[in-house]
Amino acid sequence: MAPSAQARTPDAAAPQPVAAPAWAQRGWPALVTADGADPADSPAPTHSQRRIAFVPMTEADLDTVVEVEKTAYTHPWSRKHFSDSLRSGYPAVLLLGEALPGEVVHPGRADGRVLLGYLVAMPGVDEVHLLNITVAPAQQRQGWARFMLDALVLWSRGQCAQWLWLEVRHSNAPARALYQRYGFAQVGLRRGYYPAGQRAREDAVGMSLNLVALAHTAQETTP
Ligand SMILES: CC(C)(COP(=O)(O)OP(=O)(O)OC[C@H]1O[C@@H](n2cnc3c(N)ncnc32)[C@H](O)[C@@H]1OP(=O)(O)O)[C@@H](O)C(=O)NCCC(=O)NCCS
Repeated sequence: MAPSAQARTPDAAAPQPVAAPAWAQRGWPALVTADGADPADSPAPTHSQRRIAFVPMTEADLDTVVEVEKTAYTHPWSRKHFSDSLRSGYPAVLLLGEALPGEVVHPGRADGRVLLGYLVAMPGVDEVHLLNITVAPAQQRQGWARFMLDALVLWSRGQCAQWLWLEVRHSNAPARALYQRYGFAQVGLRRGYYPAGQRAREDAVGMSLNLVALAHTAQETTP
């Protein structure tokens, strides 16, 4: 979605640098636990907790990514969409987890880790546009999307971005619920933006998250 000037009310205050957790200061390829603690302090994985890591997405990951993508969407991104994003240097990361005891994972990875999800974003002048966020179907409703959004917000604020933007299919109720719950506001509707099969089209809902307001809220609620 091209950011709409109307929707972007200028903010008096520029985003202030936030004290990011140590793992976030090290950048995306950080090994973190679900509660943000340093992995050195984390216990061995159990059924309720597994050690996880954000790692940069590379061409070598695309077989697995595309396989998950096909199971997660009615209209998945093609391999070319991912390749083009990587070639353009867009931030693209995988969220990997250690396999739990006895867990059978498909598609598997050579390193034995589980692909929990991934995201691709596109940085702009003062905003970051979320292009793709996906949680593998078997891993959904465990908080991973929210966790990836948290990481993306931190990363975006580290770039001094003021807005996070995205588009979502009007019919994608889980994703719209996720974004609404997270604090995104609907800022536009693009009629017939997405293909919907058999020459039908579907509207795109444009949503944005004000990272400056989010920072102020966080500061106000910090004890
Ligand atoms: C949308 C998606 C990313 C959510 O991932 P997830 O890891 O299951 O989401 P989370 O567990 O972090 O859920 C966070 C909140 O989002 C909402 N939510 C997520 N999935 C939902 C669903 N199926 N139905 C209703 N609300 C849902 C809930 O409010 C949830 O909080 P709760 O579990 O406390 O009720 C995942 O369903 C997915 O990958 N879908 C296919 C790809 C896709 O549509 N991506 C978005 C493209 S715009």
